[in-house]
Amino acid sequence: MNPILETKNLTIKFGGHMAVNDVNLTIYEKQFKSIIGPNGAGKTTLFNLLSGQLSPTKGQIYLKGEDVTALSPAIRTRRGIGRSFQITNVFPNLTVIENIRIAVQSQMGIRYQMLKHFQKYLGIAEKAEQLLELVMLKNKANSFAKNLAHGEKRKLEIAMLLALETEILLLDEPTAGMSVEEVPAILDVIHTIKKQGKKTIILIEHKMDMILDLSDSVMVLFNGSLLAEGTPQEIMKNETVQSAYLGGLYDGSIA
Ligand SMILES: Nc1ncnc2c1ncn2[C@@H]1O[C@H](COP(=O)(O)OP(=O)(O)O)[C@@H](O)[C@H]1O
Ligand SMILES: [Mg+2]
Repeated sequence: MNPILETKNLTIKFGGHMAVNDVNLTIYEKQFKSIIGPNGAGKTTLFNLLSGQLSPTKGQIYLKGEDVTALSPAIRTRRGIGRSFQITNVFPNLTVIENIRIAVQSQMGIRYQMLKHFQKYLGIAEKAEQLLELVMLKNKANSFAKNLAHGEKRKLEIAMLLALETEILLLDEPTAGMSVEEVPAILDVIHTIKKQGKKTIILIEHKMDMILDLSDSVMVLFNGSLLAEGTPQEIMKNETVQSAYLGGLYDGSIA
């Protein structure tokens, strides 16, 4: 397995607070890596560093061995690091399929500049349909984005993230704020993406059953530092993790 994303001594300080503290991580191609840790542990900040929204106080980020620490978020996306953002990229007054088409179009604009227009548009429509199907929103294709239920919005965001065609997907609590009924659908979507086997996925989640079910490897962040790393089973059994974090969240049984 080849490393796709690595950090060396990655650190960011907010005032006197080390939100991410000397984190060394290696993520391999096609790996499904989960990040767990209590609120305020630095998980989202780590994603902001990986995607380029924040610059580290110290340390480096390598994408396929190349130092990308100084590159902008847009360039990192083009090189393969995809991050979904809530709300910002979704046009509320356009329909679901229109939103997906725009996301596909912006990606294709970069890659297929040389193609003739009619070919370009054909490709866009087909691609958008495929994504619509993948995230199971076909029945909502012509609904305005603003009228979607919370869970459906998250599915649309995932479709728009996939439209970017990045090798790496950063998913920050994709089920947060969802009703119990909405969670299985998002899980299905993530399972389908995983099964297709084309992506490296880094998932931040609190739901332990989801972590156990999906992850090849789990890392635990605690106070900005990497506390432990291993298979989901190893992490659940790890005594340091138990006492620092899992004790109150997980009953100890392995699903
Ligand atoms: N832009 C920022 N400015 C100052 N402090 C921040 C900023 N972003 C996050 N923090 C702080 O960094 C710590 C880690 O936050 P965060 O990465 O959001 O944690 P998590 O996602 O694990 O819940 C928290 O103490 C939070 O208050
Ligand atoms: Mg967070």
